[in-house]
Amino acid sequence: MECKLAPSILAADVSCLGDQLWQIDEAGAEYVHIDVMDGVFVPNLSFGIPVVKGLRKCSDRFFDVHLMIVNPIEYIRDFAQAGANGITVHAEACGEKLYDTIIQILGYGVKPAVAIRPDTPIDPVLPVLDKLSMVLVMTVYPGYGGQKIIKDTFAKIRKLRGIIEEKELPVDIEVDGGITPENIAEVKEAGANIFVAGTQVFDGDIGKNVLGLRSKLKQEA
Ligand code: DX5
Ligand code: ZN
Repeated sequence: MECKLAPSILAADVSCLGDQLWQIDEAGAEYVHIDVMDGVFVPNLSFGIPVVKGLRKCSDRFFDVHLMIVNPIEYIRDFAQAGANGITVHAEACGEKLYDTIIQILGYGVKPAVAIRPDTPIDPVLPVLDKLSMVLVMTVYPGYGGQKIIKDTFAKIRKLRGIIEEKELPVDIEVDGGITPENIAEVKEAGANIFVAGTQVFDGDIGKNVLGLRSKLKQEA
């Protein structure tokens, strides 16, 4: 199970986003996590399609686009054409359209993922698991960076990892929210292998922060 870091640009300095992408790239972070918020699914607003398109010119890394929006199926084409490599939709936002949404993401040659909030069980993910590249288990309530991790979510990560291994599926488990050098090894031990980090990457020396998180991933919990 290969571990990857996905710095969330929600915590980046937007006055020099291109330069910040260069810095995380230099430090070896594999993904760029882009949080898209609509003020409806979550009580906050952030980036949209033009930002993904613009940033595409600054980085060749994997763009991990996390859609925290209602009706995501309406926007898949736009995000795919803007340059997303992976698109994550929330099970709660898709409802009965979850399967169709995933098929649409696949149709654009983009890697599909499904996210669940801390209070959502893994059940809606299971019927579509064999179509997914990744499951995102939110470790905070989506909407804001800088929150404290909710450790009750670890039980879901364990359960999901067990199912993925049992079925021998090539599915990653991503965690998002409150990841720090102090808890990253514990989340890995629970079964996650893609780690989103906003505040802990962009607050201070980006290169050092990425290396610090990565060194903790090599240690036992
Ligand atoms: C929260 C976002 C996260 C957020 C994580 O809704 O999905 O990606 O940026 O930020 P930190 O790492 O600061 O908790
Ligand atoms: Zn996110």
